Order: sequence, then structure tokens, then C-alpha cells
Amino acid sequence: MGLYSKLTNNIIINNILIATGLDAKKELSVGQWKAFKYDNDKSIQQNAGFSHSPEVEEALKKVKDKLVKYLASEVPAKGNVLDFGCGPGIYMKMLAKDYTVSGVDISEGMLQAASKLLPDNKFYLGNFLSINFDEKYHAIYSISVLEYIPVSKIDEFFKKCADIMHEKGLLFIQYPHALNKLDLYHPDRNYINYSPEFITKIASRYFNVIENKHSYDERNTCEYDTKPYQTESKTFKNGYLLIATKK
Ligand SMILES: C[S@@+](CC[C@H](N)C(=O)[O-])C[C@H]1O[C@@H](n2cnc3c(N)ncnc32)[C@H](O)[C@@H]1O
Repeated sequence: MGLYSKLTNNIIINNILIATGLDAKKELSVGQWKAFKYDNDKSIQQNAGFSHSPEVEEALKKVKDKLVKYLASEVPAKGNVLDFGCGPGIYMKMLAKDYTVSGVDISEGMLQAASKLLPDNKFYLGNFLSINFDEKYHAIYSISVLEYIPVSKIDEFFKKCADIMHEKGLLFIQYPHALNKLDLYHPDRNYINYSPEFITKIASRYFNVIENKHSYDERNTCEYDTKPYQTESKTFKNGYLLIATKK
């Protein structure tokens, strides 16, 4: 963590920035992702930010299986699908034979890796919130990216998803949820553990929420998780999954 981040990323400053809408201007994660360099000594999954520990693999598999299942039931064959924060393209690769999958990512290094893996797919480089997409999607999915959307932009995020979707389009968002009461007050604006209750409330403005549950064990934890898994810091096993369709 840099000195600027150490000095300015705390509950008091974060809440002042959120209240004044300045949290979006003082984002810390954007610069970090833009500076990302792909490491050829690591696996593609490690470059995306996930270890190969058995618990992470198991938790990732549950999300992948559910994504495949929901897309199969809601999206026509070869339908248009967008991966928000596609990283090096792991999920796009998995879905490429069944759908027309495009990816958007703010990191050039990630997109270089993804386009090597998927030379025929379409990619958008930049911040999802500022890009003008030239097509509509039957589904938008996102794995571990919502934590980088500033609090003051979260309504805009869901509205934008709805705006670029076909009628009844599918939204599938995996995100790290609030793991304690403190998380509700945004102690870290560089990695936001959103409250599931808050996410349901905002998403419901534009989507019919089918489910918003723990992505590993399907619990409903409401405001925050009173029994988070303690195995690794920031393990993918502590995560939530929002599945919804456009209103
Ligand atoms: C933890 S990685 C996950 C990558 C991929 N979803 C996966 O699970 O393999 C988060 C990704 O989100 C991207 N990202 C973060 N904020 C973004 C934004 N506002 N717009 C587009 N991409 C963003 C980062 O560049 C990074 O590639």
C-alpha cells in the first residue's frame, strides 16, 4: 500500500468522500489495475488474483457451474454476453463456444492476455462506467469486480448494466460481501465488501432479483456475514452471488 493510500484510505475520509461523491474521483484500484503486468511465471488463474488452494478451486467451481447453468437457461445459443472485468479471459474461454462473449477490462495487461487466449473475441479497454458499448447483451456477468466500483457509483453501475441489456437480460454478479459490521462503514475504498442487503436494494431498482446468496454455501447473510470463513485472508470462499433479470 502506498503512502497516499495509507493516509487517505480510512473510515472517516472514505465516508466524507462517499457523502460528497468524490470517492469516484479518488479511486485507488484503477491505477493499480492499469499498472498490472502479466506474470508468465504464474498461472492464468493466479494472474487473475486467485490461488489454486483446494478451497478456492472448490469455491470457483461452484460459481462457474452456476454461471453455465443460468446462461444455458436464460440466453439463446450464440447470444451476446458481456464479461465485466474479464481479466485474462478465463470465463470467456469457458463460454466462447456457446455464446458470443465480449470482455471489458480497465487493464491493458489483462486484455493482452485475454486476447491471446481468444483472438477472435471483442474486447473493450477502459472503465466499464465510461465506455459506450455498441451492442446490447442477453447477459452480463462479473466475477470479483464489484468491489472496485465506488459506493457513489453503484446505482449508476446497475443502471448501466440494465441500459445495455436486452429485455429480461440476465445479470450474474459474484462479489466479496461484508464480513463484519465494520465493512458496512467502508474501511477500505480500494476493495469494498458490499452488504448483500444494500446490493439487493440498489439492483432491485432496475432488476428482478432471482437470488442474492452466499456463492459457496448459499446462506442468506442479510446485512453482513456473522460466520465468515476464516481460512485465508480474502478467500474466494467468502463471496456472494447476485442473479437477476432486467425489469
Ligand atoms: C480480481 S480480477 C478478476 C478477473 C476475472 N473476472 C476473473 O475472475 O478471472 C478484477 C478485474 O477487474 C478489472 N476491473 C476493475 N475495475 C474495473 C472497471 N471499473 N472497469 C473495467 N474493469 C475493471 C481489473 O482490471 C481486473 O482485471
